[in-house]
Amino acid sequence: MKYLIDTASPETIRRYCETFPISGVTTNPTIISKEKSEFRPLIRTIREIIGPERMLVVQTTASDAGEIVSEAEKLREVAGDPFYIKIPVTAEGLKAIPRCKKLGIGVTVTTVFTPQQALLAAVAGADYVAPFVNRLDNIAADGARVVGEIVELFKRNGLGTRVLAASFKNVEQIHRVSLAGADAVTIHPDLFDLLLSHPLTASAIDAFTRDWKAVYGDKKISDLL
Ligand code: E4P
Repeated sequence: MKYLIDTASPETIRRYCETFPISGVTTNPTIISKEKSEFRPLIRTIREIIGPERMLVVQTTASDAGEIVSEAEKLREVAGDPFYIKIPVTAEGLKAIPRCKKLGIGVTVTTVFTPQQALLAAVAGADYVAPFVNRLDNIAADGARVVGEIVELFKRNGLGTRVLAASFKNVEQIHRVSLAGADAVTIHPDLFDLLLSHPLTASAIDAFTRDWKAVYGDKKISDLL
């Protein structure tokens, strides 16, 4: 499993990358616009924070294949590798996938809501597809089941495309796509905290601390060795 963080806030990215095993950052036009910052410096800052190992996924705002490819080229120059252009799953988007791949640009296909959209994108050469789990759940569909079906279709067709499940509002959705075989999830910062915390963990740690202090006071193990 790869964990990505779904935000463009430099401060948040810095903080969460220090703690969690985060493999990259995903953005979309909504996420970027929340920062109300100059676009180019924002992308440069995110790369500086995440370094040369983590992936950076930035969505195109173009709808024509030629423009998508040209945005992808320019974005990669600014974002630096490893970079993935995020392309919505449209007819023009499909056309742009092999062209970006030919230029050596990584591709994540986004706004995926059905297994067949994912399959088309994968056959066209996408590196990742991003199904939107919570948005499916919100219309009484089953986002995790869609993820599972995409995983199964890729396996049956021998496709190397990976599933980057996206759009989560709770831990249960993340758990279900993990069980369904998602290769990666992109998560809002608050959900990282919820994934980690459990009241029984907190109370177990409190009890250990209490028992230790009852005998050794404020001394730490390193003081006693
Ligand atoms: C990430 O790739 C998606 O753009 C994002 O997860 C969508 O999430 P939302 O449904 O919470 O907007």
